[in-house]
Amino acid sequence: MTESRTFTSPTTRNICLIGFMGTGKTTLGQLLANQLGWAWVDTDNLIEKEAGMAIPEIFATKGESVFRQMETEALEKLAGVKQHIITTGGGIVLKPRNVELLRQLGWVVGLQASVEAIVKRVGEASSRPLLEDNPEMRIRALLEQRKYAYDFADQTIDTTELSVSQVLERIISAIRLESF
Ligand code: S3P
Repeated sequence: MTESRTFTSPTTRNICLIGFMGTGKTTLGQLLANQLGWAWVDTDNLIEKEAGMAIPEIFATKGESVFRQMETEALEKLAGVKQHIITTGGGIVLKPRNVELLRQLGWVVGLQASVEAIVKRVGEASSRPLLEDNPEMRIRALLEQRKYAYDFADQTIDTTELSVSQVLERIISAIRLESF
């Protein structure tokens, strides 16, 4: 058994990854799940499956507030799971109820990145309805609006200058210290 699997006791909780679009939640979540031997679940994927349509279509046909409600329902359905890496959409933290649910689910890791890194990572952002028309301007405005929204995380990591493996190591060290 490798050291990375020392957290897989039946009593272990989950790790939730939050953060703005383009901070690396999905990439890191999948790698973290592989490393720990845990399951990976993504709230955007759950919502798309439930709705039978892609996120841009949900925004276009039902609107953002319905999407936000679907985020709450996705988190509620996860109640009781163990040893899951839960990755989330960047706006899930906007509803206080979601913050409460995330905290109940487990250890919350907030990922950050500079505006420049986010702009580079999200590219043309065709799959992100909130970034249509001038992504850079939208990113700056949304980051300002959400300035404190991710502050409730148990651990915050700025990924701008870090490699993926450095970020993984930081998360794993922190949960070890927390004696998960
Ligand atoms: C959103 C982020 C997206 C997705 C939706 C809305 C947001 O997820 O949930 O487009 O409000 O920040 P990612 O953070 O995975 O891009």
